[in-house]
Amino acid sequence: MKRPTLPPRVRIRARSKSHRRLRGVLTLLIALVGFGFLFSAITPAPNQAEAGAVDETQIAAGAALYSNSCITCHGENLQGVPDRGPSLIGVGQAATYFQVSTGRMPLADNSAQAPRKEPFFNPQEVQALGAYIQANGGGPEVPTAPDGTSAELRDNAAVAKGAELYRLNCASCHNFTGKGGALSQGKYAPDLGPATDSQIYAAMLHGPENMPKFSDGQLTPDEKVAIVTYVQSAKASMDPGGYGLGGFGPVSEGFFAFIVGMGLIVGVMLWMGARA
Ligand code: HEC
Ligand code: HEC
Repeated sequence: MKRPTLPPRVRIRARSKSHRRLRGVLTLLIALVGFGFLFSAITPAPNQAEAGAVDETQIAAGAALYSNSCITCHGENLQGVPDRGPSLIGVGQAATYFQVSTGRMPLADNSAQAPRKEPFFNPQEVQALGAYIQANGGGPEVPTAPDGTSAELRDNAAVAKGAELYRLNCASCHNFTGKGGALSQGKYAPDLGPATDSQIYAAMLHGPENMPKFSDGQLTPDEKVAIVTYVQSAKASMDPGGYGLGGFGPVSEGFFAFIVGMGLIVGVMLWMGARA
């Protein structure tokens, strides 16, 4: 009986071990990529929830939120309360969307002008309040294109047209760069930096505080979209520094983080394998 000599066994063991390690890495890669696809499939597109049709349950939900948070200043039937808040009959969904999604309402204090702050309500609640107030007297509504649409429309012609319209209609208060500026009596035109596509559109329809209303007769919906496109592209081209991801948006950022994370995990695994 002849026993196998040592060197071949060592070679075989070494090869099968590296095979196993390779297989492990491949399995992990496949699992991670699969997880990535699953993640992007279950992550809702931005504002998908906001595109829902107006229905009775939504109006009822809005009425309930209104009774809790708005009634003291705007009245039981939206008729307004003297020295507290104006009537909301006929102001419409656009005004409500603007005020609530930018966190201006519910109003907290009596400063000269309601400041932009973290919104108190989530997007579904904002939509419900808008539906409720829209159901009482109608008024302008924001089109339900998802935020980020302006990035897809961005081409030189649209941006140039928007730039011209912005210069004529908005720059006198918001400055050529969109950085905003002071108005009289402690009021100000805010920086447009944090405003989303729908908020810019809603601001034009609503005309909050000292800002004029731009009806569809004054600026057609196409012209409004061009202005939104210009404002957003001007912001995107002013890189604030830091880890700019080129304005790819939340889903792509998640995907970016996922790729980096996956690279790290694989790297650590290979390193542990090499040490073992
Ligand atoms: C503490 C009082 C107060 C509360 C609470 C309050 N508001 Fe207001 N609201 C005001 C005042 C004052 C104004 C007018 C000043 C302004 O536009 O900044 C106003 C303006 C508005 C406007 C614009 C109306 C217009 O004609 O321009 C809307 C829309 C609005 N509020 C919605 C709401 C909603 C919805 C809520 C509840 C989530 C709410 N408000 C809660 C005081 C309040
Ligand atoms: C007469 C001055 C004036 C003009 C002209 C004007 N705005 Fe405004 N704008 C304001 C004021 C004042 C506010 C703040 C209102 C408030 O806080 O309730 C505002 C608010 C806004 C906001 C909200 C920013 C935020 O805080 O999220 C947007 C967006 C906006 N304006 C866009 C525009 C666009 C686009 C145009 C041109 C089509 C325009 N504005 C023209 C005065 C102006």
